[in-house]
Amino acid sequence: MQTRRGGILVALDTTDLARARDWARATAGAVAGVKLGLEFFTAQGPEGVRQVAETGAPVFLDLKFHDIPNTVAGAIRGVAPLRPAIVNVHAAGGSVMMRAALDAARDAAAQLGVAPPKVIAVTVLTSLGDDDLAAVGQPHKAEDQVRRLAALTQESGLDGVVCSPREIAQLRRDLGADFLLVTPGVRPGWAAAGDQKRVMAPGEAAAAGADYLVIGRPITAAADPAAAVRRIAQEITGAAA
Ligand code: C5P
Repeated sequence: MQTRRGGILVALDTTDLARARDWARATAGAVAGVKLGLEFFTAQGPEGVRQVAETGAPVFLDLKFHDIPNTVAGAIRGVAPLRPAIVNVHAAGGSVMMRAALDAARDAAAQLGVAPPKVIAVTVLTSLGDDDLAAVGQPHKAEDQVRRLAALTQESGLDGVVCSPREIAQLRRDLGADFLLVTPGVRPGWAAAGDQKRVMAPGEAAAAGADYLVIGRPITAAADPAAAVRRIAQEITGAAA
């Protein structure tokens, strides 16, 4: 999987296999990969992932595992034959769980004779505000909790985190140049924000230090998804120039 600042991962948010494959084919070659999440996986399962991967797109399998270490390790071994480029867990599952995920990813890849996936963590879901965190007994400000969990993720040996656009610059300063920052909530000026509240333009997010931009509807809801990708890629290149 190409790793460069500002690579696009298209979020294929659908339960429909044919539609997901169409989107993957339409954007092939112009994006760093595709993201398949719970919506797709719960409907189409591992076989659906295999069929999307057949289009040649590297896959970020966004299943956000969060369970006891033994179970998460088993789940990571379970998806390893799908050869995802990136898998993720919740950092709130703790360091032992994160290390178990990483070890399982490496062991399973070695057994299969393939490169291990990048293992990254979700810190605080961006749908949660300070009040929501207080209600579940976590009294710190969301941004402090994000920094704490991102540091724990790095100490646990993982490759990076998923973060909101407004966290990129701080986390890049905290965690250094080599830690992967994967960012949803990205919107070109010409696309509708939809339900995304705190959005950032693709060029800005890449310039702030995001490695991968997860972008769904501005591409998948466009009349011509391939043209939308080209337009976004130009914005990213233009901002970097
Ligand atoms: O269509 P849109 O560009 O909003 O899609 C963004 C993708 O990133 C969706 O798959 C969404 O679930 C995911 N995501 C997000 N915000 C987060 C975490 C994931 O939008 N904090």
